[in-house]
Amino acid sequence: MDHLPVFLDISGRLVVVDGGQTVAARRVERALSAGAIVASFDPKPGGELTALFGHKNLTHQARVPESSDFEGCAVAYGASEDAVRDKLLANAARQAGALCNVADVPEYCDFITPSVVERDPITIAISTGGAAPVIARNLRARIEAMLPEGYGRLAAYAAGFRDRIAAAIPDGRGRRRFWEDMIEGQAGDLFLAGFEDDATAQISAGLEAAGNAAPLTGEAWLVGAGPGDPDLLTFKALRLMQHADIVLYDRLIGPGILELSRRDAERINVGKSAGSHAMGQDEITALIIKLAKDGNRVLRLKGGDPFIFGRGGEELEEVAVAGIPVQVVPGITAAAGCGACAGIPLTHRDHAQSVAFVTAHGAGGVLDHDWTKLARPGQTLVVYMGLGSLGAIATSALAQGVRANLPVAVIDNGSRLNQTVVTATLETIEGEAGAADLGGPALIIMGDVVTMRDKLNVDGIREQQVSLGLDAREGL
Ligand SMILES: C[S@@+](CC[C@H](N)C(=O)[O-])C[C@H]1O[C@@H](n2cnc3c(N)ncnc32)[C@H](O)[C@@H]1O
Repeated sequence: MDHLPVFLDISGRLVVVDGGQTVAARRVERALSAGAIVASFDPKPGGELTALFGHKNLTHQARVPESSDFEGCAVAYGASEDAVRDKLLANAARQAGALCNVADVPEYCDFITPSVVERDPITIAISTGGAAPVIARNLRARIEAMLPEGYGRLAAYAAGFRDRIAAAIPDGRGRRRFWEDMIEGQAGDLFLAGFEDDATAQISAGLEAAGNAAPLTGEAWLVGAGPGDPDLLTFKALRLMQHADIVLYDRLIGPGILELSRRDAERINVGKSAGSHAMGQDEITALIIKLAKDGNRVLRLKGGDPFIFGRGGEELEEVAVAGIPVQVVPGITAAAGCGACAGIPLTHRDHAQSVAFVTAHGAGGVLDHDWTKLARPGQTLVVYMGLGSLGAIATSALAQGVRANLPVAVIDNGSRLNQTVVTATLETIEGEAGAADLGGPALIIMGDVVTMRDKLNVDGIREQQVSLGLDAREGL
């Protein structure tokens, strides 16, 4: 071990951050969350940094820092990617007695910024001594799921290739991708299985090929994030989230999920852009295509499953036509996730032999379905995007002749810690849901299966799990 692991109490102390882009924004975020007073500097701050402006402990100045800015400074971060600024920052910070860290410049680093797994109040910090940051990130992803053996040895082994890889692949993004392909790929597997010579041969062959390689090709990944509980992500979703250069997300992505993506990946909220308006579907698709054509691995994170009322089909079509390699990762759709978490089985031998998923909204507004067919005996009906038109749906279904005592459930924020479930009948559901003041997203389930909820006591089981500390979402 060549570094001393400590957790610094930075609360109320000054942290200076020089830089305006993604890395700087992450440093500012972390320092603020630890209670520091943060002064950031950059003539042209980017969107991720400006999004933090307004925090009571953050001041930003649109210039580079001067020596006097470091008075009383405890920690200084250089993230400008400008060699002259880096040098000035390191000198001034050290003169002021501050600890200094400049991204990717080891001689200006008094400490390393670790990869962090947070389960508040527990923090797991991971470092490879600066040798191979991509390994640390990788390890973090695996710890999120489970702790494998042998990763420390792999990190030390990989560090032996650092100089060769840096010389063969000067571009930072290409270098990271090479590390990921090798360490996440066959070479890492071979090493962990005890075949070090074979792993070395694999890396050497990869390095030779990298010398003659064409420019980086981008990819687009449409990834289902499930209904909100981070534990309901698939392993594949988590793995791709750790590899993406850019993550596009919207308001359907539950709290705690976005944080599982690679820490220095750029995150773009397409549900609410800088000008505070939601981007249209065409704009989102065009953005994915542009970013992928620039050589990025672009991950579009979708609530639930991308192909169930997620417009994934449209995105996929256009991106594929643009010649960009695409992967689609299924997610747990709201019907399955909400049903399970609310104790409502979607099918049941005694109650429902089929299930139908419909949306309340089509391209032209609220849809008026044939409710007697959809809510017929022996079938469960799941309505997506129906909370705002719950009254209209119930009125129309009753007028068409659906029985007034049909059991109906509305599940708000299903699978999340703030999940609320309202059960009633077709006749009374509007009033009951209105009284519960639900905020959405919410799903409507109609059919006799709703009566199973009382028998399954799922709420009781959830409460027990949370109080026993078994809820893995704690601290996310
Ligand atoms: C645009 S659709 C997306 C559906 C998503 N692709 C899926 O497979 O779940 C959004 C609707 O999904 C439902 N939904 C998504 N997440 C939910 C959640 N956590 N709880 C309840 N309903 C949810 C709501 O009906 C919401 O209006």
